[in-house]
Order: sequence, then structure tokens, then C-alpha cells
Amino acid sequence: MNRSTLANKVQRDVSSLRENYTKGGLLEEELPDHPIKLFKEWFDEAVQSGTHEPNAMALATTDADGHANVRYVLMKGIKENSIQFYTNYESDKGKELSVNPYASVVFWWPELERQVRIRGSVEKMSEEKSSAYFKSRPRGSQIGAWASDQSRLAHGREELEERFKNEEEKYGVEEIPKPPFWGGYEIHIEQVEFWQGRPGRLHDRVQFARHESKWEKKRLQP
Ligand SMILES: Cc1cc2nc3c(=O)[nH]c(=O)nc-3n(C[C@H](O)[C@H](O)[C@H](O)COP(=O)(O)O)c2cc1C
Repeated sequence: MNRSTLANKVQRDVSSLRENYTKGGLLEEELPDHPIKLFKEWFDEAVQSGTHEPNAMALATTDADGHANVRYVLMKGIKENSIQFYTNYESDKGKELSVNPYASVVFWWPELERQVRIRGSVEKMSEEKSSAYFKSRPRGSQIGAWASDQSRLAHGREELEERFKNEEEKYGVEEIPKPPFWGGYEIHIEQVEFWQGRPGRLHDRVQFARHESKWEKKRLQP
């Protein structure tokens, strides 16, 4: 099959891909006052569903020109009004968050036919909290954090492996400190949308929005 025939076949197949969602519903009487309660329930169910990386979330930020950028990161903490993730502060996402400290994340749990979107302002975690988490990471990940200038140009795979080896040798059996350019971010939750797939594309969508300390809920059309 030549490349253009294959491209046409893929195009045809993509347009005919569709699922009917039948696994659940989300009704007003099931909603708690605080969205984090429902988020924790849904997250626990996602873990139990056996989905791969249930804490993976697509994180959208914007650059200085207002252009969007999205990539996956792992949620590493849930608090009453925030969720957390860790990264390199000098990466593209880190630079974007320093220009516009606001983010949107989305989780997709296919086994449950559920999506959750969260938006809010973003703040760096304290050095103490980031260091405490860094300590709990596997040694290989700690070395990797030192070895990678995340998002900058790499001159081949070999260079990366060389840098990893150098860092490994530098620390030997010593404890590896947290790099100053690496740490956590907290997303202070301002809006959460719960989406449950339903038959006939008549999905349930409930949005919670925070107004000062109160949460308002509304149903949105699918
Ligand atoms: C499932 C998954 C989880 C990831 N988790 C993280 C993470 O927690 N932190 C991180 O910095 N990058 C993580 N990455 C890599 C990012 O998607 C991305 O490639 C990297 O952070 C550079 O992004 P940037 O150049 O936009 O800053 C993950 C990738 C995948 C696919």
C-alpha cells in the first residue's frame, strides 16, 4: 500500500471510529457541596478501574503571545483546594507559568467513560515541600532531574546518557539534593467540570465554580 492510499484508509477509519457511552450517569442529587469530594471519589474509582496512569493529566499553559501549549504531567497530590505536580522550573511549561501563572488540566479515564477538567491559578511550592517530595523519588529519577535541561535542545541520545552517567558518578552513594531548578506547582482550583459519557451523545456535564469561598454548580449542555 503506498503512502497516500494508507493515509486515505486511516482517514476513513478515523471518521468511522465511535463509541456509545453507557457506563454511568451524574445527577444533581449525587453532587456534594465541594467538588474535591467528588473528584476524590472519581479518582479512587479510576485507580480501581485499573486504568494506566490514572493520575496522568494533560496540562495546558500559554506563552507570552497567548499561544496554548499542552503536555501530560502526573498529579502528585490532592488537597482541599489544590492539586499538585512536579517539573523543571526552566522547562517550557515553567517559563510559560512564570509569564501566565494560570493552567487548565484534563483527565480522561476511558474505563469509566469520564473526563474531569480543572482550571486555576498556579503557584510554586515551597522549597521544603519540593525537597521532601524529591527525597521520596527513585534514585534514577533524582539523577534524571539533574541530567536533563528539560525542553532545551539535545545533541543526540548519547549526550543525554553521558550526562546521566556523569551525575551518577558525581554523587556516588551520597544523598542527591533537589536541583534548585526543579520543584512542585500547586494549581489552586477555581473551576472543575465533571463529564460522564451517556448514550446518544447526551452526556452529563456538571461544572463547579468557586466564588470566594462558595462553590456554585451548574449543568452544562453536552
Ligand atoms: C504520562 C506522562 C506523564 C508525565 N509526567 C510528567 C511530570 O510529572 N513532570 C514533567 O515535567 N514531565 C512529565 N511528562 C513529560 C511531559 O509531557 C513533557 O514532555 C515535558 O515535561 C516537557 O514539557 P514542556 O517542554 O512543555 O515543558 C510526562 C509525560 C507523560 C506521557
